[in-house]
Amino acid sequence: MKDLKLRIILITAASAIFLIFHLIAYIYNMNVFKEELNSLERAHDFMEDVLELRRYEKNFAFGIDVNDLSEVLLYISKIEKDSNEFMLKQKFPECKKCIVDLKEKLAEYKKIITEVKNKKKPNVNKIRELGHEILTIAKKILSVNKVYVNKSLNRLLLIPSVLMFLFGTLLIIFLIFITYTLLKQIKFIQETTIRIANGDFSYIPTVKDRVSSFAPIIEAFNLMIKELEAREKDLLQAKKLASVGTLVSGVAHELNNPLNNISLTAEMLVDEWKDLSVEEREEMLSDIIEEARRASTVVKNLLDFSRSKLKDADESLDIQEVVKSSLKLVRNQLMISNIQLITEFKKDIPKIKGNYDNLKQVFINLFLNAIQAMPEGGYLKISTKETELNGKRYVEVAVEDSGVGMPPDVLDRIFDPFFSTKPVGKGTGLGLSIVYGIVKKHGGKIRVETEKNKGTTFFVYFPCEEDA
Ligand SMILES: Nc1ncnc2c1ncn2[C@@H]1O[C@H](COP(=O)(O)OP(=O)(O)O)[C@@H](O)[C@H]1O
Ligand SMILES: [Mg+2]
Repeated sequence: MKDLKLRIILITAASAIFLIFHLIAYIYNMNVFKEELNSLERAHDFMEDVLELRRYEKNFAFGIDVNDLSEVLLYISKIEKDSNEFMLKQKFPECKKCIVDLKEKLAEYKKIITEVKNKKKPNVNKIRELGHEILTIAKKILSVNKVYVNKSLNRLLLIPSVLMFLFGTLLIIFLIFITYTLLKQIKFIQETTIRIANGDFSYIPTVKDRVSSFAPIIEAFNLMIKELEAREKDLLQAKKLASVGTLVSGVAHELNNPLNNISLTAEMLVDEWKDLSVEEREEMLSDIIEEARRASTVVKNLLDFSRSKLKDADESLDIQEVVKSSLKLVRNQLMISNIQLITEFKKDIPKIKGNYDNLKQVFINLFLNAIQAMPEGGYLKISTKETELNGKRYVEVAVEDSGVGMPPDVLDRIFDPFFSTKPVGKGTGLGLSIVYGIVKKHGGKIRVETEKNKGTTFFVYFPCEEDA
């Protein structure tokens, strides 16, 4: 970015310098042109004087009138004066040479005319010849001036156009370059942001050819990744501690009940052994066995969970088939609980890669939770669709119930092992943590929307097979 800023400043400074030089050159050329125009005007006047001279000279030659001769002399001195002045201001070397020639001819011409005026016999041919030569030189002076003026005019028109064209082209090339660089950077930022949003916290290497314009962005991203990683670790640690707490208190609670019952019953047996009938003794002993079984089920559940029997997710599956076969297992409970089943299945849902048994476990858990959340009945709606998340295609299964919903503090903990709001014996608190583990194992995602006393919807996403 710094580099880009420097480039923009440089090109702006260069443009400003270019424009100033261009302006100075233009003003200078304009002045030159003005001087040349003046010179052309003078050459024009000069030419007119010579033409007048020749008119009187012609009158004299044909009419031999001495009065015309005085006019001729008048014009000669006027032309002499003009040519002196002209000589001073003239810049073009060709013209200077012409004026020198002209002065020579004019002197000769003046001499002859003065002699004729002093009653010498006129040599008309010689006079006419000299007059013609003077006119030719005047014409030449005029044409040289014209050529210079034309050249200047061309310069004035052409140079700015060419320079503006070159400048414009360079500016466009530079703008294209800047836009290209910016677009490349924006694309890089976009791609990296999506990658980080998808949970990939690996650092971005600084590639050599990118160093100049990408280095600061990469640096910023790497700093952000480092920060995010640290925060995620903290969060994970906090969550782990919280779930260990839930787990321990869950297990303690679950085990405490049967152990209490066992010890109470055993104490009663010892104290009142003699007073009890055989049937009563048998009943109490079988109570103890029953409670011991309950305790061992708790331990078994815990073991099952910790060993987490996740199987490889490698079968090509139609998720709707899995949903339908899971539904069969809860149909009875739906009927008993007075729950209406609504399904919205799509025809062309892409296949996913997964494990049939594990996925069935996911849906059975979600359905049972939904049923338990609707003690007064309601509806269970299951819908599927194909969707896109962060540029990847997923199959979405939504499990919606019209049950009791959850307050935020419950929602925060539902995936913790042994977290349950249900009475002892009804819930183990393991369902959703198992669901979570299986969904993660499938590269999927899970999301919950809930509103107290309105209902809850669980959305589970599995990557489409060709995207997995
Ligand atoms: N569909 C639902 N509606 C309302 N609350 C739910 C729903 N599903 C789960 N919960 C809440 O999440 C908790 C944890 O669920 P789960 O892990 O399956 O354990 P359990 O069902 O054994 O309590 C439940 O106790 C309940 O409070
Ligand atoms: Mg459950």
